[in-house]
Amino acid sequence: MRCRKCPRRAVINLARHRLALCPACFTDFVHQQVARAIKRERMFGPQERVLVAVSGGKDSLALWAILLKLGYRADALYVDLGIGEYSARSYAKVQAFAEQAHRDAQARLYVHRVPQKEGAGIRELAILTHRPTCSACGTLKRYHFNRIALEHHYDVLATGHNLDDEAARLLGNILHWQTEYLDKQAPTLPASVEGFARKVKPLYRLTEREIAAYAVINRIDYVVEECPMAKGSKLLLYKEILNQLETAQPGTKHRFYWGFLEKRAHLQGTNNLSMAEYDRQVLTPCTVCGQPTTAPICTYCKLMDRAKGVPVKSS
Ligand code: AMP
Ligand code: FES
Ligand code: ZN
Repeated sequence: MRCRKCPRRAVINLARHRLALCPACFTDFVHQQVARAIKRERMFGPQERVLVAVSGGKDSLALWAILLKLGYRADALYVDLGIGEYSARSYAKVQAFAEQAHRDAQARLYVHRVPQKEGAGIRELAILTHRPTCSACGTLKRYHFNRIALEHHYDVLATGHNLDDEAARLLGNILHWQTEYLDKQAPTLPASVEGFARKVKPLYRLTEREIAAYAVINRIDYVVEECPMAKGSKLLLYKEILNQLETAQPGTKHRFYWGFLEKRAHLQGTNNLSMAEYDRQVLTPCTVCGQPTTAPICTYCKLMDRAKGVPVKSS
């Protein structure tokens, strides 16, 4: 099979675009998709400083690599959750990539170590607070992503969520009619109030398979295994179901998620309260740490309070 853009041999067939590409043209295709996402969703400009949350997995390391290749000023943040060997292996991949990024582009890496700073790994914290591990983990990660982006004056925080992640999350939110989450499911979340960093997902136009191929072709060394805590998660089930639909009808995932974004843009045009205005009405600074929250004390501070067993008093 020949590449559709040049005379070389194709190595990947993108059924949803009816496009077979060679390694070089596929790499260009991925870069174009990310550049288009950044421009279309007004994520950030060439002079803005981006902090990429990197887990050691293919998506976030590929994202960091792509942003650097596109010439953006991108540094990274790794949160060590203290999940035994899995965290150790993930950190090793992040560190190796960061050393290269520092040599090539003077990029830097921040590391937040949960076992040292919070006093226990995420599994122990979840047990102490009677919360499912993934939910405690989400709270902690979101909190530190935002905190570190603001403390170091980054304009925007980027995560490696891809089309499969976003389509699966959309399916879950619709199945349970979690409309409040639907409102927040966007490739760009503006910094609606002071204390929140702008958050973006520049890989939302690319599938998991496309990013895995990009990582292999461009020799990005990443942790292949999933987090051991994610086994049996609903999101994995939704991804499997969407993959079955994708095989039968290529393009299902992108029609589903991009269609949602288009419909929502239209609905927001008819809605008299924008998301930013809504946030300004309901969010106030946490009385303990100052991050914006809908309650007097934010979820992170409540979690840490429960983990210590000492009630935190709001001032
Ligand atoms: P996940 O929820 O594990 O699919 O991760 C989604 C995105 O969150 C990844 O692409 C990363 O950008 C970010 N992320 C997840 N885990 C970590 C971590 N331990 N440290 C930094 N960023 C992370
Ligand atoms: Fe958070 Fe696995 S990455 S529990
Ligand atoms: Zn707080």
